[in-house]
Amino acid sequence: MLFARRKSSSIFTPEPFMMKQAAFNGRKNGNLSIFVVVFSVFLFALFMYNEDVKSIAEFPFSSRSRAKSQEVVSHQQQDLSSTQQEDPQAENHQPSGQPKSTERSTTEVEPRRQDELEKSRRTKVVFEDENGPGIRLPVIKQEAREGRVAQPEPKEKAKDEERSGEAEVKEDRTVVLERTVVSVPEGCDLFTGQWVYDNVTSPIYKEHECEFLTEQVTCMRNGRKDDTHQKWRWQPRDCNLPRFDARIFLERLRGKRLMFVGDSLNRNQWESMVCLAQSGGIPGKKTLVKNGSLNVFRVEEYDAAVEFYWAPFLVESNSDDPNLHSIQNRIIMPESINKHGKNWKGVDYLIFNTYIWWMNTFNMKVLRGSFDEGATEYDEVDRPKAYRRVLKTWAKWVEKNVDPQRTMVFFMSMSPNHIKSEEWDNPNGIKCAQETQPVTNLPHALDVGTDWRLFDVATNVTRSMRKVPVWFLSITALSELRKDAHTSVHTLRQGKLLTPEQQADPATYADCIHWCLPGLPDIWNEFLYARIASSPWRI
Ligand SMILES: *[C@@H]1O[C@H](CO)[C@@H](O)[C@H](O)[C@H]1NC(C)=O
Ligand SMILES: *[C@@H]1O[C@H](CO)[C@@H](O)[C@H](O)[C@H]1NC(C)=O
Ligand SMILES: *[C@@H]1O[C@H](CO)[C@@H](O)[C@H](O)[C@H]1NC(C)=O
Repeated sequence: MLFARRKSSSIFTPEPFMMKQAAFNGRKNGNLSIFVVVFSVFLFALFMYNEDVKSIAEFPFSSRSRAKSQEVVSHQQQDLSSTQQEDPQAENHQPSGQPKSTERSTTEVEPRRQDELEKSRRTKVVFEDENGPGIRLPVIKQEAREGRVAQPEPKEKAKDEERSGEAEVKEDRTVVLERTVVSVPEGCDLFTGQWVYDNVTSPIYKEHECEFLTEQVTCMRNGRKDDTHQKWRWQPRDCNLPRFDARIFLERLRGKRLMFVGDSLNRNQWESMVCLAQSGGIPGKKTLVKNGSLNVFRVEEYDAAVEFYWAPFLVESNSDDPNLHSIQNRIIMPESINKHGKNWKGVDYLIFNTYIWWMNTFNMKVLRGSFDEGATEYDEVDRPKAYRRVLKTWAKWVEKNVDPQRTMVFFMSMSPNHIKSEEWDNPNGIKCAQETQPVTNLPHALDVGTDWRLFDVATNVTRSMRKVPVWFLSITALSELRKDAHTSVHTLRQGKLLTPEQQADPATYADCIHWCLPGLPDIWNEFLYARIASSPWRI
């Protein structure tokens, strides 16, 4: 049945690459044109950056080439990490810190010469087909759970693409370079594959290189001993996932805004994206401003913004305060979204999620009436039912307020927890605290307690959207293997680093919900990157 779903939806899931092909095939010299475009991009890159010929040849997807390392010249006015008042398990149970006022951090950076490591990252790939220290990992097979679920008027889009393809050939070579279209093979299911140990191209940035990371996620600085969790790359079975290239990404984001909307797992991913976006020596000033529910990271050189908006249920709820997370009795208004939604209008890339806040009770409390009118009574609604109501409201908002010609919309599937080590056959483990490797071949299916019913709801709702296509990024199953990648005891609790005594008691204090950075969320962002950087340029 799953297969049938996949098939029936495939009519509506033309990948950008496919559209490109269709466009070119419509012309007589289609293949020649593709060749001309690709070759002129290649020539130009060769010409401009001949010192990087080797890396271009070996990394067709990652011209990490021009990457120059950087050096902090003037430090930020305020150390964000020390003012961060986050509770690692806020989503779950704990009370947390004080309300924050606006924080601001500014850093100016200047290029300096590349360091050796950066170089070695670019010029070699090893362990291409090995799994590192004696590990064989299972290959995850999934239905094509991702998909551009609807594609209105594909013919017109194809024409657009054809036009922009012609434009590319005619225009200045600089423009050609700026309009890189990363190749992601048509129809390849990026989410079916395996983890590959790769300590040469991973991690994409270093913990100490990204000053914007909060203490919640800097596991190594917080005392984690092993760093192997940073060194796993996702290898799709049937194609390659392009490695993140900050310059290509920032060209896509030039003069634009990308916004993550959701809970602390989406914030986790936002922090990762902030680091990725300035990896490889992106020059110029970067700022991070936190103001209430909205955090905005800007790269001035590109006039680009990577933002996070706090809305853990997407719809209005009593958990909308970005700082007070001690909400035990969570109540939502499933049909009310505009209060948040007005902050998402006009954004060019929108990435939504909602999951972890749903998980502390079996039923969701649905308000009778409105918070504004002082309502307090609620009904208890079965979790998937309430989830569907919320996503329906969200879908309606998207279809009414998003212009699909301008904005790409993504929905992240659920980020899994690793609370019971018996689930991966480690009866002597303590939650995720002693895990240093991804799950290897189990004699049984892995079940870490993810509520897959919500996955099905999200799949169905996003797939049913016709006017505005939504990319559903199916990161749940591949993340379930990453029991090694959580912050565990190397994190904050109620705004403070765990004490040595607390660290020694992982049964009580380990956070097996959020993830270390660098780490797993970087890979989630590579899926985003693959979709953004492979989409046709629109002029
Ligand atoms: C990468 O891992 C291999 C195998 O564990 C090891 O021999 C090698 O020294 C590592 N290289 C780096 C740069 O860490
Ligand atoms: C913070 O957000 C509020 C409400 O959106 C806005 O009025 C205010 O100008 C913002 N402050 C700063 C410093 O950006
Ligand atoms: C999703 O859609 C499929 C096919 O239309 C249907 O069989 C299934 O019951 C739906 N699941 C949910 C959770 O809505």
